[in-house]
Order: sequence, then structure tokens, then C-alpha cells
Amino acid sequence: MIIYSRNRRLRVNQSIRDLMRETTLTTDDFMLPIFITEGKNIKEDIPSMPGIYRHSLDLTIKEIKELWSLGIKAVNLYVKVNDKLKDNTGKEAWNKNGLMQDTIKAIKDAVPEMIVMPDVALDPYSIYGHDGIVEDGKILNDATVEALVKMSVSHAEAGADFIAPSDMMDGRVAAIREALEENGFPNVGIMSYAAKYASSFYGPFRDALDSAPGFGDKKTYQMDYGNSREAINEAIKDIDEGADMIMVKPGLPYLDIVSKLNEIVDVPISVYQVSGEYAMIKAAVQNGWLDNDKIIIESLTCIKRAGASLISTYFAKEAAKLLNK
Ligand code: PBG
Repeated sequence: MIIYSRNRRLRVNQSIRDLMRETTLTTDDFMLPIFITEGKNIKEDIPSMPGIYRHSLDLTIKEIKELWSLGIKAVNLYVKVNDKLKDNTGKEAWNKNGLMQDTIKAIKDAVPEMIVMPDVALDPYSIYGHDGIVEDGKILNDATVEALVKMSVSHAEAGADFIAPSDMMDGRVAAIREALEENGFPNVGIMSYAAKYASSFYGPFRDALDSAPGFGDKKTYQMDYGNSREAINEAIKDIDEGADMIMVKPGLPYLDIVSKLNEIVDVPISVYQVSGEYAMIKAAVQNGWLDNDKIIIESLTCIKRAGASLISTYFAKEAAKLLNK
């Protein structure tokens, strides 16, 4: 039998496989989402996210230095807000001396080259756990955008490199861009969570920040997971409004969206491998059902292969250690 075309020739040994590989991870592909809480010397477990902690600011800074030494160059910041500071306006979100603003300053003081992307949305500050201001059981769009603008400017004043609105209100990217320009921050970028789906994969994150919606769900602002054309519409509008980078979220189950957007848009696409994806993998690893190191590298490589320029992942630190080996 003569088979002229044998695909296996290009897989015969590790050297040829290395030479043929299209997608290779580096630590430059990662951002690490981190959770900050009030207090000193605090490191709290998040039961649904084994290996991930809420750190107080002092320990966060130690962590940031370690991340930098591992080659991680960007962090996404999320704060756990004291219940006493929560209300329906979210005003603590633009407190100049709030936990987020203090964290941004402290990180930029300690490691100025670390790219800092604070999350912009009201949910950690909202008594309702919603990303916007609530009136008669509805999430107000325009009033929320005004709040997000104040929040964004306060992040820029604290030293943020990129503003990262994850709220999915309409028109917020343009409003934030305008405010950044007007307030003297032309070089502060916007990474918009453009294609953010209403997903059950966010459960462990809401445990981490105690930010689960108190009523209803987020389906009037986050997208329906049955849709993909809507993601293109969201992305194109955010880019028109001035987003420098867009994000798709969640990651692994949504790689068709990443791939599609990669064909259409000309800005970098970041992908968020979210808390529920992390939790699923860790649970299987803890049961001995999946190989931790292999599954981390495979899942992240696949996200990059689909078209991600950057991956926000709770595995960033572990993956960096594996890649640095
Ligand atoms: C809040 C926000 C959420 C996540 C990032 N920003 C939760 C939500 O929208 O309810 C989820 C991230 C994760 O699950 O890891 N605006």
C-alpha cells in the first residue's frame, strides 16, 4: 500500500512537533485577576477557588513583586467591599481613598512597570449586587454610566494603566473615553468587556467578592449565551467608542466567539478564563481525574490558538511557574 500523504510524518518526534507548533504560550500572554480585602496580613481562602485567596493590601504587594519576578506583567483588580460601604449609588467606587484606589497606587509605587487594570462595575459596591444603579427592580443604564465615569476617572487618578469596564451598560466606553481625555489621561487605555455573557460560570467569583445579585439575574445587561452575532455588534460598538482592547468572557466554552471576532476586529482580544472554569478544573484535579499541569497549559494554549492576544486567568501564576521551569 502506498500512502503518499502521511500526516503523521510531522508528528514523528518531539523535535518535529516543536518545529511545527503554531501556538506557544509565554508569560506575556497572561493577566492575573486578584482579589483584595480590607485589613492587614490577611489571606483568606475562597472555598470554591482552591489556591486563590483574598489578600489584604500589604500581602497583595508582596504577591505583586513575586508575580513580576515570574514574568507576569498585568493584573486585573477586584475589591471586596465592606458591607457598610455599600449602597445603591455605588459612591464608594469613586472614593479617592477607597480600597481600589489605594491598591492601584500601592501597586504602581511598588512595581511601576506592572500594568494595572482595575475592574469598573458597581456590583461589589451595590447593596443589590448589580452592576448598575437599581430603580423599581430595573438596572438604570444612563445613571449608571455617569457613576462608571466617576469611578474610571478616580482609577486613572490613582495610576491605573487601563480602565476595564465589565458592566455591559450601553454607551459607557465613549463616556469613559471622553472623561479620560478631558481630565488629562490621554494615555490611559480602555479594555472593554465587550462580549460578556450572562453566565453561570461566574459563581465562584461572586463567592470571592460576596457580590451575587440580591434579586433577579444579570440578563438585561449581560448577553444571552445562545447568541454570537450580538457579540460582534457589542465589540464593534465598543471599538468605535474608543476601546483599545476588547474582552470575551467566559473563555473555554466561548472560543467560537473569540475566533469569529479575531477574523473581524483589528484590536487585541483578551479572553477571561473565569472563576467557574478554574473551579471545574481544580475540582477534577483534586479528585485525581485531570493532570493539573497539563490541563493548565492545554487550556491556555487553546484559548491563545482561538485568537486571544491576552488571557486573564487564575492560573497565571501556576502557568508562569510551569513555563519558567
Ligand atoms: C463584575 C464581574 C464579574 C466577573 C468579573 N467582573 C461577575 C459578574 O458579572 O457577575 C466574573 C469573573 C469570574 O467569574 O472569574 N462585573
